[in-house]
Amino acid sequence: MVARGAARRYKPRTDNKQAVILMAIERTLSMIKPDATARNLTGKIIAKLEDAGLRVIAQKRVQWSEAQAQKFYEVHEQRPFYNDLVAFMTSGPIVMQVLEGEGAVAKNREIMGATDPQEANAGTIRAEFAENIERNSVHGSDSVENAAVEIALCFEISEIVG
Ligand code: CMP
Repeated sequence: MVARGAARRYKPRTDNKQAVILMAIERTLSMIKPDATARNLTGKIIAKLEDAGLRVIAQKRVQWSEAQAQKFYEVHEQRPFYNDLVAFMTSGPIVMQVLEGEGAVAKNREIMGATDPQEANAGTIRAEFAENIERNSVHGSDSVENAAVEIALCFEISEIVG
């Protein structure tokens, strides 16, 4: 039998509800760009991503053809930097990876820092390693929807192994 005092102690608090925020497990595409592979920075970059709790569930080192780079960045086709971006992204090896974790899209972008390294927060990948806005060391999907498109463009389902 529950004592009257105990019953009072366990009365639910309706005046002090706490919001419970559930973060979804997401996947995002991450790329280590030619400026970073040339400077042997892949390990340091991956360590920052893993230290933040993201898991690498697919990974490969490739050199893109012009057609592959054009297709991946076709959303920027009309931008003045498009041709230079394609030339840069085909100039050396890149490491493509799928990252998985809670809120992976936003978390990866937070760890990467702003596109322009001059504006990137201290401690981010771009603040520490990027050379300029083009040679900015990493790419990360900007939404869950675009992550699905970019992952499908870069990996076969059988290459994503968890
Ligand atoms: P990324 O995240 O891969 O997405 C598009 C890329 O275009 C960007 O990183 C930069 O490397 C490159 N880029 C070059 N110049 C610019 C610019 N002026 N504004 C935005 N992106 C640029």
